[in-house]
Amino acid sequence: MLILAVESSCDETAVALVRDGREVLTDCISSQVELHRIYGGVVPEIASRKHIECIYALADQALARAGVTRQEIDAVAVTYAPGLIGAVLVGVNFAKAAALRLGVPLIPVHHIRGHIAANYLAFPELEPPFLCLVVSGGHTMILAVEDYTRMRILGGTRDDAAGECFDKVARVLGMPYPGGAALDRTARQGVEGRYDLPRAKLSGNPLDMSFSGLKTAALNLIHHAGQVGEALNIPDLCADFSRAVSDTLVPRTMQALRDTGYKKLAIAGGVAANSRIRADFAAAAAEAGAALYIPPLSLCGDNAAMIGAQGYYEYLAGNTAGQDLNAFATKTLEGEAV
Ligand code: KG4
Ligand code: ZN
Repeated sequence: MLILAVESSCDETAVALVRDGREVLTDCISSQVELHRIYGGVVPEIASRKHIECIYALADQALARAGVTRQEIDAVAVTYAPGLIGAVLVGVNFAKAAALRLGVPLIPVHHIRGHIAANYLAFPELEPPFLCLVVSGGHTMILAVEDYTRMRILGGTRDDAAGECFDKVARVLGMPYPGGAALDRTARQGVEGRYDLPRAKLSGNPLDMSFSGLKTAALNLIHHAGQVGEALNIPDLCADFSRAVSDTLVPRTMQALRDTGYKKLAIAGGVAANSRIRADFAAAAAEAGAALYIPPLSLCGDNAAMIGAQGYYEYLAGNTAGQDLNAFATKTLEGEAV
């Protein structure tokens, strides 16, 4: 089954062609990062306009690159939630028109389910059930992926997402948006142990996390140093900050793995590109005797191939939509597709 997949929930417009949920024929991405950089973050209105400008040409490009004709497309999958509402609407409206014109099913895909499915593209042998940690710019959660379309949230952040914290700290250190990758590169030049940053301990669900205290502590440290004219060792600070994030994510995820009894652990989302987090999970999974799946960097960030992968399994589960499909800024990934 050949799926034309569309993603436009934030600042990447992306169109991909994916066969049977596992084989990427082409994955075209037009990033708006440069456009938003001068504002230090994504400006929703600008994002929506840019998506409209390039989505049609991107779809043509995807077909041309894959050497596929419109008639060969069996279904259209699209991110319908969550995201910047104006941005998501562009993709949803394009997908509706494409499905109507081609006379094929329309498949709504939850963006976070897509991130999880990036692992199906990277690892053909991976099948549910498995545990998945989703760490992106907007989400941080631990999930039991019981089946391709049935998942349960076991814990997650009560405030900021991990990616949001990376970006905020990077921004205050003068790194260009989105700063997570730059902070990671800088951290690799540093030595850990110079700066004492907090790890939040919460009452209630032991798998829940909090990052706002860590973020505030790092920002206060930077501002204070600026005020008293103290020179900071930026690489060391970045190394300690990355370690603090990893120290929050890894033990809870490994606890969830033990709780569920799963032997497979997948990581998904943009922050899964972080070198410290990747290394720490590699060590922890080896110690626990679990198989670890982390997609290559190209599949960690937003892309449409992951939407095509999940779209296939949503289709098999009967989760298609009509022309009344709406876009949603927020929506849980548990339960019904629409
Ligand atoms: O999944 P994603 O592309 O978009 C969302 O759905 O949010 O994630 C983007 C996030 C940004 O916060 C970005 O700074 C972060 O992933 N990120 C990283 C790294 N690469 C991307 N954070 C830490 N280390 C990295 N190497
Ligand atoms: Zn994303």
